[in-house]
Amino acid sequence: MIKLATLSALAAIVPLLVSAQAPVWGQCGGAGWNGATTCVSDSVCTVVSQWYSQCTPDASTVPTSTTPVPTQAPDTNPYTGHDVWLTPFYASEVSAAAAVMTNAAQAANALKVAKIPTFTWFDTVAKVPMLDGYLASAREQQKKSGKKVLVQIVVYDLPDRDCSAKASHGEFEIAKDGVTKYKNYVDQLAAIIKKYPDLRIVAIIEPDSLANMATNMSFPKCANAAAAYKECTIYTVKALNKLGVYMYLDGGHTGWLGWPDNIEPAAKIMAEIYNEAGKPKFLRGMATNVSNFNALRASSPDPATVPNPNYDESRFIDAFAPALAASGFPAKFIVDQGRSGVQNIRPSWSNWCNLKGAGFGMRPTSNTGSPHIDQIVWVKPGGECDGTSDTTKERYDENCGLETAMKGAPEAGQWFQAYFEMLVKNATPAL
Ligand code: BGC
Repeated sequence: MIKLATLSALAAIVPLLVSAQAPVWGQCGGAGWNGATTCVSDSVCTVVSQWYSQCTPDASTVPTSTTPVPTQAPDTNPYTGHDVWLTPFYASEVSAAAAVMTNAAQAANALKVAKIPTFTWFDTVAKVPMLDGYLASAREQQKKSGKKVLVQIVVYDLPDRDCSAKASHGEFEIAKDGVTKYKNYVDQLAAIIKKYPDLRIVAIIEPDSLANMATNMSFPKCANAAAAYKECTIYTVKALNKLGVYMYLDGGHTGWLGWPDNIEPAAKIMAEIYNEAGKPKFLRGMATNVSNFNALRASSPDPATVPNPNYDESRFIDAFAPALAASGFPAKFIVDQGRSGVQNIRPSWSNWCNLKGAGFGMRPTSNTGSPHIDQIVWVKPGGECDGTSDTTKERYDENCGLETAMKGAPEAGQWFQAYFEMLVKNATPAL
């Protein structure tokens, strides 16, 4: 016979056992996680990083839509007529961050950030399955609201990635069959996207890679990677073009490619990709200022930009667009303004890591004031780190140890609470 005491002990344990399932979009794993590791029905636990797994809608049974792959000539702004989907992963990062903020007014402002669309970065192959759940959920939103939905992603897993810096060194190496592994990563993304021709997807292709080809060939890692970067980029562009994904190649920023001497050589490299990929209809143009801090339009030149006449992204684009067109690439632009709210915060334009004093910037809009620019976007999810400041780490980059960089910084891509709180506080316009 079971004793009463044993029964009540059991009763205390059983609810714990049965409720040990995380909700959709809840955390279900990651280093140091002690909570639920299984998900409620119709959702699956998906690895986001070694620190975080999230329950995403189970998309394994989602049928391929019968909608034909879009063939509409992309001479229209892809953002027109679309609601931009909000990534639940970033929303969960933001709400966790707001929950530990002690200043109530700032915490309330922080929560507003979860409603501002950012891109989702596919920076490891392990994250790819997450896209299925995301697209399934975006489709649901589209059905329910009756409004067209657009999903923003960053393709970011080249072999020998980040060839001129250390902070975002990736998982694939050219010397270890990285090109094949990368193509497999792209194939996996493509296989998922293929199920959702009814959704509009905008992809930024490989931040920093082609810009490095333009100016950093003196770095052995970049020179060695050039052929692989080109082959891989063309592979991605062709694969996603077939699926009607609107693409923007990463085009650096004005402190990099915007110097008058760099504009033409850079335009030639970008146009070479466009031409050799067969002038893909859905390769719409270039993304600039990704993860950087430049203004779209500065009222006066930041002293760090002198003597570059193209001292903001708008001036850069006005010069870059005709150079690209002259090389045969009629490119349009999207511009990251996520962390560009505060200007004149660095002594040198080459400071790129976790800049102190930065603030969230202008909000995403199609009202760009430029015929060249499709959309102001937030690409870098503000609060995610640019690179570790821990000098003992393999991916430590000196830029992240400079006086201009906030210290206590975790690995690139990981949540950096103090940095997020600063971005909230300095947001311009205010949140
Ligand atoms: C990191 C990625 C991360 C991205 C967005 C990059 O600097 O290397 O891991 O996904 O930033 O935060």
